[in-house]
Amino acid sequence: MKKCLGLNLCLVWSLSATLTLGATRAPVTNAKGLVASSSPIASEVGAQILRQGGTAADAAVAVGFALAVTWPSAGNIGGGGFALIHADGGPDRFIDYRETAPAAAGPDFYLNAKGELDASASRVGYRASGVPGTVAGLALLHKRWGKLPWKTLLEPARKLAESGFIVDQALAESLQHSQELLEGNAETRKIFFKKGHVIGRGERLIQKDLARSIAALERGPEAFYEGSVGKAIIADIQKNRGVLSAKDLSSYKVVEREPLRRKWRDFEVVTAPPPSSGGAVLLAILGMLEKDNLEAMGSGSADYVHLLTETMKKAFADRSTWFGDPTFVSNPIDKLLDPVYLAKRRSEISMTAAAHDIKPGELPGEKPDTTHFTIRDSHGMTISNTYTLNGSYGTGIVAKGTGILLNNEMDDFTSKIGASNMFGLTQGKRNLIAPGKRPLSSMTPTFVYRGKDLILALGAPGGPTIINSVAQTLLNRLVFHMDIQQAADAPRFHHQWMPDKLLYEPFGLNPDTKKALEARGQIFRDEARTFGDVEALAWDDELRLWTGASDSRNGGAVAAE
Ligand code: GLY
Repeated sequence: MKKCLGLNLCLVWSLSATLTLGATRAPVTNAKGLVASSSPIASEVGAQILRQGGTAADAAVAVGFALAVTWPSAGNIGGGGFALIHADGGPDRFIDYRETAPAAAGPDFYLNAKGELDASASRVGYRASGVPGTVAGLALLHKRWGKLPWKTLLEPARKLAESGFIVDQALAESLQHSQELLEGNAETRKIFFKKGHVIGRGERLIQKDLARSIAALERGPEAFYEGSVGKAIIADIQKNRGVLSAKDLSSYKVVEREPLRRKWRDFEVVTAPPPSSGGAVLLAILGMLEKDNLEAMGSGSADYVHLLTETMKKAFADRSTWFGDPTFVSNPIDKLLDPVYLAKRRSEISMTAAAHDIKPGELPGEKPDTTHFTIRDSHGMTISNTYTLNGSYGTGIVAKGTGILLNNEMDDFTSKIGASNMFGLTQGKRNLIAPGKRPLSSMTPTFVYRGKDLILALGAPGGPTIINSVAQTLLNRLVFHMDIQQAADAPRFHHQWMPDKLLYEPFGLNPDTKKALEARGQIFRDEARTFGDVEALAWDDELRLWTGASDSRNGGAVAAE
């Protein structure tokens, strides 16, 4: 019954009875295609390609190049990544366009004559780059699943680079955060600085050299591996005592792999295989939780946070030892994901005491960066793509005259057993450097099926936090039935076994929960930062439509076809 005690009260009553808006934005929904990415401009580029009759693969190529212009900290031409593809008429495919180690690099590449590690050399400078795979990866997506001409897909990125675009808050903050790195290289400084200051919000970012490189690539991807763009990159690297050679570039190969696929409760999760550790670690975390009544514990409860944290520690402990490029080393995935093994690992977890068989280490101070986009077209083709330069803006070096930032992916290898990389990850023998080898990754482009139906496609950036961002978003959606925007926005936490610290987002744990977790022995890293930037699409049973979410932590957006 509606009763008005004066105009205002009556209004409030009727509003609360009709509005369904929550604490986060409503997801974007559309009967046709959707594009979720870290950059509103790039998402719109993808939606325009869909409107022109392009497939999700066409849109992925266009978004991949557009992000290299509008989200240069991670969107790239000079990096690498992974794409997971669902297309009618065939099983899901996994396209591995991860960077490879140059032929001149080996296990001692970053060690001096005394065997001491020069940790900075795998992160900054011309020796930090792996052979880029992005152009070859996007070209394969186009060749296998695209419909529109290649040039049509690159033209929006070329125009954005040529005419520039207005820098928004997210990009301004990202440039500000990395300004020291960007200032260190004259070519990079020329692009991202104006009159002595890093380009800020509301200013126009123009990238003429990048526009010229994209124009050359419009004639065909060979321009990168054998033509003018590649030659310019190699000339600059070699002039500066890097080792990447023309032969490294011309012999780069994309690898098509079987994704990992496992049942979880009533669902099937399809995700990244090695050389990413992401899928296996995600499936291990989920597998350990298979029989737990998470619904009864409740999202954000001390029991839930504690249990999930303990499973993260166990799965990341295995990550440190057992994974590497499958072309070079074995990855005992079946053993690590064996339900009996995972049940045993789960049985070792105490609900009252945190495990601490852990060596100390430090979490990264640097902002790890990578970027993810998810695209679905009106015919159901869906692509979940994560690609990266590794750290924000990679090496911070733009190869002279190209406008292309060089990756620092070599830091994802084990540079020395026992030493930690920029993400604080300590890795094993299987991930030592070898010529042509791919460094171990955490990137986790993922699909979830219910029966035969795809119901969720997602991924995130953030080094090792990627895996836990994907795990928590997936659990929020499937277990706690949050809509996809709520699932992406809900506060997250992260544990990677070593260092033995539980990172949580500002206001992500209430003081009572934190105390309860401390009483069980969890050690916290009190650091005021968020992590991850989930870009996800999900089927909504009530709306009978696909819905999309771009994480509120960053400035991304979902665009509708
Ligand atoms: N470069 C971050 C990752 O691949 O995990």
